[in-house]
Amino acid sequence: MSSEQAATGQTRDTAAGCGQHGVRVFLGAVLHFLDDPGPELDPAAWELFEDGALVVDGEGKVAWAGPAADVPCELRTGATKVDHRGRLIVPGFVDTHLHVSEVDIVASYGEQLLNWLQQYAFPAEAKCADPDYARTVAGIALERMLAAGTTTASVHTSIHTTMVDAFFEQALQRNLRMLSGKVLMDRVTQTPHYLRDPDVQTAEDQTLELIDRWHGKGRLGYSISPRLALTCTEDMLAMVARLHRQQPDLWIQTHGAENPEEIKRVLDIYRAQDSSYRSYIDIYDRFDLLTGKSLFAHCVHIDDTDRVRLAAAGSAVAFCPDSNMFLGSGLFDLDAAWRYGVSVGLGSDIAGGTSYSQLYALNQAYKVVAVRGGRLHALRGFYLATLGGARALSLDRHIGNFTVGKEADFTVLDFAATPTLARRAEIAETFAERLFALMILGDEQAVTATYILGRRVHERQSPAPV
Ligand code: GUN
Ligand code: ZN
Repeated sequence: MSSEQAATGQTRDTAAGCGQHGVRVFLGAVLHFLDDPGPELDPAAWELFEDGALVVDGEGKVAWAGPAADVPCELRTGATKVDHRGRLIVPGFVDTHLHVSEVDIVASYGEQLLNWLQQYAFPAEAKCADPDYARTVAGIALERMLAAGTTTASVHTSIHTTMVDAFFEQALQRNLRMLSGKVLMDRVTQTPHYLRDPDVQTAEDQTLELIDRWHGKGRLGYSISPRLALTCTEDMLAMVARLHRQQPDLWIQTHGAENPEEIKRVLDIYRAQDSSYRSYIDIYDRFDLLTGKSLFAHCVHIDDTDRVRLAAAGSAVAFCPDSNMFLGSGLFDLDAAWRYGVSVGLGSDIAGGTSYSQLYALNQAYKVVAVRGGRLHALRGFYLATLGGARALSLDRHIGNFTVGKEADFTVLDFAATPTLARRAEIAETFAERLFALMILGDEQAVTATYILGRRVHERQSPAPV
């Protein structure tokens, strides 16, 4: 590839030939997944091009990925080259669960879920009625995600339409593929007076308006968002199911089976109406909320019957290891979920979780699996954080890997981001060993740059301290 060095660090191939307009060639090690490698690490499930190239067309779609030496002439000619050699290019991380309304209560001390909600989350969320505050936290959350290499997320907002508008507006400005929706919570005994939908009809009307305004706009999707069975009435859950039956292209996101005290309270309340509810997940199931577009955050305390039901419905679980430990909720059984065929994505769960980084989430996930006696291989970890998340959100026809035509959202990771990581990566003998070092020792410091549709939206500010 003949090229001229440009001041920007980008170069343009000047060979005569049959070039296409606006094509960019990103050089570096390229790793992406075609499928879940599974416990046996099926080598057909991923592609690694150590001296690789990712080619993005003028529309921001993947045109080609492979060895740098093999970039087809028609893509190479006239293309802008961006040099990330020595670094790792992976599809943008997918954070399947976080709360934009909780940006300011990250690292709040000393409580488990129910008290933590009352003491920290609900008061913080109430502030989102103010459009200026809503814009501020939406901006912070999006910038922190991009800095961490996260390009898509399933996001809880608050009950306020102001918060939903602020989040979607800013995601649209940045041309991001994001899912979100208004939080629904109306059960008088379990919600504070200052943070409650006045009635189901009002909540439905506001939801319908927001769907109309945002669903399908740019790359945005609307996720109907009952907060959890505890804070919703039976009528609210029934409304969600009805809405989804009418518009099955919408998503549903909620929480489930996170914390023992929460589970007991939920079952007490629902069983008072109908003693036959078998489990927390069974409540959602009986309200028709287990759909192929449903995402249940946490599911720490579920059993095999729940797993069978989730898998059969094609519903997904957001595994939030950092939050599950920070709030003392418990250890999600990832291996069991996978064994039963449940679709699982990784979540930061800001602000039950404490980091926007999916590398940090993988570090925590590794430890949760280890405490349970298992192992999370780096290749399965990176699958989970990319294509696995895209599948959990039913977005894998758009994002999640570098097959031709996918949207070119990606992140560039630096094996030398910190002295400890640099040393460990340097002495590693295999790529898998280096990747594991990145998964365990990396966080947002390891993110050199993040690209949306082939355009850089984040670049690490300070040089790596090596
Ligand atoms: N369950 C219901 N709401 C929340 C929340 O905001 N955070 C967490 N971790 N769990 C929840
Ligand atoms: Zn949550």
